[in-house]
Amino acid sequence: MAYMSRRAFIGLSSTLAAGTVFGLGACSAPSANSANSQQQTSATEASQAEASGSASSSVASLTAPSQALSFDVEAGKVTLSNGVEMPTYGIGTYILTPEQAAESVFWAIEAGARLIDTAAAYNNEEGVGQGIARAIDAGLVQREELFVTTKLWNNGYSEDGVNGALERLGLDYVDLLFVHQAMGDYLHGYEIVLQAMEEEKTRSVGLSNHTNAQFVEVISALGVAPQVAQYECHPHLQRHAAQGFLAQYETQLESWFPLGGKGNTQVFLEDETILGIAQAHNKSAAQIIERWHLQEGRVIMPGSHNQDHIRENTALFDFSLSDDEMASIRSLDQNSAYYGMVGSMSQDVLESFGDYTFEA
Ligand SMILES: NC(=O)c1ccc[n+]([C@@H]2O[C@H](COP(=O)([O-])OP(=O)(O)OC[C@H]3O[C@@H](n4cnc5c(N)ncnc54)[C@H](OP(=O)(O)O)[C@@H]3O)[C@@H](O)[C@H]2O)c1
Repeated sequence: MAYMSRRAFIGLSSTLAAGTVFGLGACSAPSANSANSQQQTSATEASQAEASGSASSSVASLTAPSQALSFDVEAGKVTLSNGVEMPTYGIGTYILTPEQAAESVFWAIEAGARLIDTAAAYNNEEGVGQGIARAIDAGLVQREELFVTTKLWNNGYSEDGVNGALERLGLDYVDLLFVHQAMGDYLHGYEIVLQAMEEEKTRSVGLSNHTNAQFVEVISALGVAPQVAQYECHPHLQRHAAQGFLAQYETQLESWFPLGGKGNTQVFLEDETILGIAQAHNKSAAQIIERWHLQEGRVIMPGSHNQDHIRENTALFDFSLSDDEMASIRSLDQNSAYYGMVGSMSQDVLESFGDYTFEA
C-alpha cells in the first residue's frame, strides 16, 4: 500500500488514524518567548475540533497530525506533525538569479545551513540544484542531511508540475512541497502536493499565503493539515494570531521576509531597540531578529547573496534573548506588511497574478 511506504519514507513509527476531516476550532495566540508555544496548544485541542466524515478525494484518507510539534530552539530543529525533522534556519533564494542561487546555496551549506527554500516562481530551481550538487560533490553534506523546499505555482498543479520541479532541482524528492498561493484551483493544488507525498516525491506538504478561511477550506476538503505554513513575518508583522491559529493543526509557521525583505531591511537593521540588544550581545541586528524568530518558535530562511551575511545567519546559537528583550521586540509590531511585486519573476508568472492581492 502506497501509504505504508510513505510512512517508512518520512520515518513515522506511530499508528495513524485515517479518514479524519478537520473542523475549525478556537484561535489562541501563543505565549511570549515560548518556542514551544505551538506545541502547548495541544493535540487534544486539535482533536476536539475534529469532526468525523469522509472526504471525497482519494488522498483524503491520509491522516490527522500524528503528534504535536516539537520546536527545539537550541538544537535548531523542529519535529513536524508527521514526524519529519526540519531545520529551523537556512537560506532563502527569492530574487536570486540561478547563478546567485547556486553560489548562495553552496555558501549556506558550507556555513552549516541545511534548510533551503526556493519556488518554481523564482525561476532559479536549477541554480539551487546546482548549489546542492556542488556541496554534495565537495563532500560537505549528503542529500539526506538537507531539507529542500520548493513551491508549486498555479500553473504547476499537476504531476508534470511536481516532476518539473524535481527535474530542475536535480533531485528525486524534496522535503517540503508548498502550494505557493491560494490562486487558481488551489484545492487541486493541495491534492497534487498530497499525492506527491504519497508517491514519495516530497516528505511533507505546506500551504503558503493562504488566509485562515482558505486554510480551513483546503483541510476540510482534503482531510489533512499541512505540516508547515509560510507567511510574511518580521518585527513589524509578527503573526501571533496566525501562529495560534496554525497551532490548532500542529502546523509549523515559517517566516518569509524574516528581515523585512530586500529593500526594507534597514528599517530593522537601524532600529534603536534592535541595535541596543545587538550591542548588548555583541551580535549584528540581523542575528538579533533571527534569534527572536527562533525563540518565538518560527522557522526562518533569510535570503542573501553575501557570504558574510550567510555565515552570520547560521551563527545564532551562542547567545539567547531575555524575556525583556523578546518583549521589547514584540512591542515593535505594527501589523504592517512589506511585500511588493518586485523581483525576477517571469512575465508569465507576473501575468498569472491578475488582480490577486496578497492577503496572508
Ligand atoms: N512563500 C512566499 O510567498 C515567499 C515570499 C517571499 C520570500 N519567500 C522565501 O523567504 C525567503 C526570505 O525572504 P527574503 O529573502 O525575500 O527576505 P529577507 O530574508 O527578509 O531579506 C533579504 C535581505 O536581507 C539581507 N540580509 C540577509 N542576511 C543579512 C545579514 N546577516 N545582515 C544584513 N542583511 C542581510 C539580504 O541582503 P544580502 O544579499 O546583501 O545579504 C537581502 O537584501 C526568500 O528568500 C524566499 O525563499 C517566500
